[in-house]
Amino acid sequence: MPHMGIDVGTAATRVLIIDEQGKSLDSATVEHPPFTTFKSGWVEQNPEDWWRAASQGIREVLARRKVPAEEITAIGLSGQMHGSVLLDARGSVVRPALLWCDQRTDEQCRGITEKIGLDRLIQLTCNPALTGFTLPKVLWVRENEPQEWKQVHKILLPKDYIRYCLSGQYATDVSDASGTLLLDVGNRRWSGEMLSEMELESNLLPSLYESSQVTGTVSEAGAAQTGLVKGTPIIAGAGDQAAGAVSMGVVLPGAVSANIGNSGVVFAATDRPALDPGGRVHTFCHAVPGRWHVMGVTQAAGLSLRWFRHCFQYGLEEENKAYDHLFAEAAEAPPGSDGLFWNPYLMGERTPHLDPYARASLVGLTAYHNRSHVIRSILEGVAFSLRDSFRIFEEMEVPVNHVRLGGYGARSPLWRQIQADIYGHTVEVVECEEGAVFGAALLAGVGSGTWPSVDSACAAVVRVAHSIAPDVASSKKLNRQYQAYRSIYAALRNIYAGLARD
Ligand code: XUL
Repeated sequence: MPHMGIDVGTAATRVLIIDEQGKSLDSATVEHPPFTTFKSGWVEQNPEDWWRAASQGIREVLARRKVPAEEITAIGLSGQMHGSVLLDARGSVVRPALLWCDQRTDEQCRGITEKIGLDRLIQLTCNPALTGFTLPKVLWVRENEPQEWKQVHKILLPKDYIRYCLSGQYATDVSDASGTLLLDVGNRRWSGEMLSEMELESNLLPSLYESSQVTGTVSEAGAAQTGLVKGTPIIAGAGDQAAGAVSMGVVLPGAVSANIGNSGVVFAATDRPALDPGGRVHTFCHAVPGRWHVMGVTQAAGLSLRWFRHCFQYGLEEENKAYDHLFAEAAEAPPGSDGLFWNPYLMGERTPHLDPYARASLVGLTAYHNRSHVIRSILEGVAFSLRDSFRIFEEMEVPVNHVRLGGYGARSPLWRQIQADIYGHTVEVVECEEGAVFGAALLAGVGSGTWPSVDSACAAVVRVAHSIAPDVASSKKLNRQYQAYRSIYAALRNIYAGLARD
């Protein structure tokens, strides 16, 4: 029986229907209007645009009738994490959501850390206060927009706004809730202590579920706006990273994924909430009961390449072609880009620096370098940045048995090889490259009983298509380059801090 996944991305919302073999039956992608960045570090989107995209995508696939709405057994949701969806008592959006990459909340993060103390904060939530997380965004609105704050009745995450529009229910799952800084991640429940320390009422938060549990069903209004059948079960789902990991079969300890979307994430499944005392990687619940994950996040991974494309000449071409050209050009430069380095901190950085003021840099230019060097150095710089997470996993003794690639980084043969060389691991690419939306559909399959567990769903449908081994000579060279890459941020950090003060 078919299952539907819906993923609310940053650039677009994707709808996918799969069968019991995990085969894609139909899909649609609807883009969002570009996010607004009307001030450096501020990034907002309107949740109503997500609903417009999701409802249009669902209508599109159902209108084609490849899969009649009556046959859909369940719907699973995934989405960009951390965004602050603020609703009033009538369920209307109070103000645009501050997104995962919004960096305006440094002051709120310091305030939280001072009030609770770093050690206790990590004890309560497994994580430090970071500008990307939801709680500091909520506090920013409370402090800076008291009129808007007065109206706030519920705080939701992006995918859960779609759930609300479909079902009228306020619910979320433990993996996505982990990125709010209000979850007791170790015990998989909202943290009463955090709420009372922050003077927030517990009824501001939605009900909490494990990822494959049913949270409700499509309402009459939801059915009327989408063409879905009233009563179709909706599954809790997962944040895009946990859902993406499920889509690649990264569910058992030892399994690791490196996913390059707009952000870049190295994700390791664990059977305990493993902690980095420095808080450089996040410790969150996995979409599998009784499992957790650690993940390191590069804020501007695919975004680095997108930024380059938009700023320098590729803007007029059709999206895929433009990237094919970029990769072809990058392949003309040798491994190591003849000593040119990209630090990808276009939107501050989480792992390993936890520095909202970090800036990107291109270091080592000479008159000899050309555009192919620059593009290749961006691909390498992003992979170096992801390697920082592997280094931290090693310190934490988190096992890395096999590495699977996702997102843009899995699609380009060049970027795959660069990653194998820089991580120093054989990397695998799975057959279905759909990512989070596929994971959401698999969770819907588990929730509606097609598979008894997430592990068995992955075992049944996730297959490896390619394995790429590191090239010994390039890997050696890039390993040396990595040491130089790391020293760049250390040398420039004070300059960035100064720029932020200006
Ligand atoms: C994860 C994160 C991003 C967003 C957007 O912590 O911030 O991956 O989920 O995809």
